[in-house]
Amino acid sequence: MIASVLPTYTRAPLAFVRGEGSWLWTADGSRYLDLGAGIAVNALGHAAPELVATLTEQAGKLWHVSNLYRIPEQERLADMLVAQTFADTVFFTNSGTEACELAVKMVRKHFYEKGQPERTEILTFSGAFHGRSSAAIAAAGTEKMVKGFGPLLPGFVHLPWGDLDAVKAAVTETTAAILIEPIQGEGGIRPAPEGFLKALREICDATGTLLVFDEVQCGVARTGKLFAHEWAGVAPDVMMVAKGIGGGFPLGAVLATEDAASGMIAGTHGSTYGGNPLGCAIGAKMIEIVTAPGFLDEVSRKAGFLRQRLEGLVAAHPDLFEEVRGQGLMLGLRCKLPPADLVKAAYAQNLLTVPAADNVLRLLPALTISEDDMAEAVRRLDAAATALETQPA
Ligand SMILES: Cc1ncc(COP(=O)(O)O)c(C=O)c1O
Repeated sequence: MIASVLPTYTRAPLAFVRGEGSWLWTADGSRYLDLGAGIAVNALGHAAPELVATLTEQAGKLWHVSNLYRIPEQERLADMLVAQTFADTVFFTNSGTEACELAVKMVRKHFYEKGQPERTEILTFSGAFHGRSSAAIAAAGTEKMVKGFGPLLPGFVHLPWGDLDAVKAAVTETTAAILIEPIQGEGGIRPAPEGFLKALREICDATGTLLVFDEVQCGVARTGKLFAHEWAGVAPDVMMVAKGIGGGFPLGAVLATEDAASGMIAGTHGSTYGGNPLGCAIGAKMIEIVTAPGFLDEVSRKAGFLRQRLEGLVAAHPDLFEEVRGQGLMLGLRCKLPPADLVKAAYAQNLLTVPAADNVLRLLPALTISEDDMAEAVRRLDAAATALETQPA
């Protein structure tokens, strides 16, 4: 008999009832060190006091009014994002997938309104993940995600990751946009090769193509910059954001330049819940916290500490690990065994990690994790690795 919850997930036999910072507790009182942070969502850890205060204060005032009216909390968060980024305008969603949907619509509408309706194609890359809607699975094109769900939304061209020649050959008069994660998350913590984003920007500038960054996983301070693309010194025309911006509350956004967004006039897009006062109050608190002086430097300092410890772990277990990769607190351990084995062995050490493609174990801790907790996490990973090495074949 089918489970009452549609069985689309492979879940660990763990259920948590309480969280604080980088720790989670099960009902029987067992404590787990969380290096997944809800897959890069709980950027300030669990039950962050500032977010709890903002949530409860706003909950006592106003949750939802619909976008029939002006929403001051939404306007405030949009103003903050515009002030801090390349963007001139923002649309709020409830998830990364919805941000992907709008990004796709926006770039196509841009060219339609400019009298180039033939420019509908969007170039994407192998290993990409943009969500699970029909557009997002068509964009990524991974067999596992699309099989059985056709006919797929047409207009996506899939290119090998990091292959500049392939991009140059694929940009034609029907190309609307290039869509890329500056650091692939689900694809295995794969940063774009050095100089790649800059080269994409140049191609886009030369051909009038729009550049879309998916910063759903790598954005909002995770890499030690507010957005990961800042490391490359280039800006997109459109950017998808979610996960960390809500710190655990479902919130996403599409940021865009005025030109890229020029087709999105009244009536062209909407959302019942997107941009509600509750989510936007929390989003504004998140942005206020991560842009406060010193926050990003502290993320980079913590990242340096964790990375150094992980390099030591790789050196200590050369039969299990290949390398550490990623940026800031978006780190991956490339494994020589299925990462799911390691995730399982880590559960036995009361440590939570996340598997990814390309044989990578993902480490996405709260950006506020303490040095002690990072050191403890690496000790537990070491114990998990040792257990795997010494278990009978
Ligand atoms: C890069 C990227 N884009 C889009 C998504 C989809 O976001 P959501 O699950 O909030 O719909 C994800 C989720 O993991 C992601 O990592």
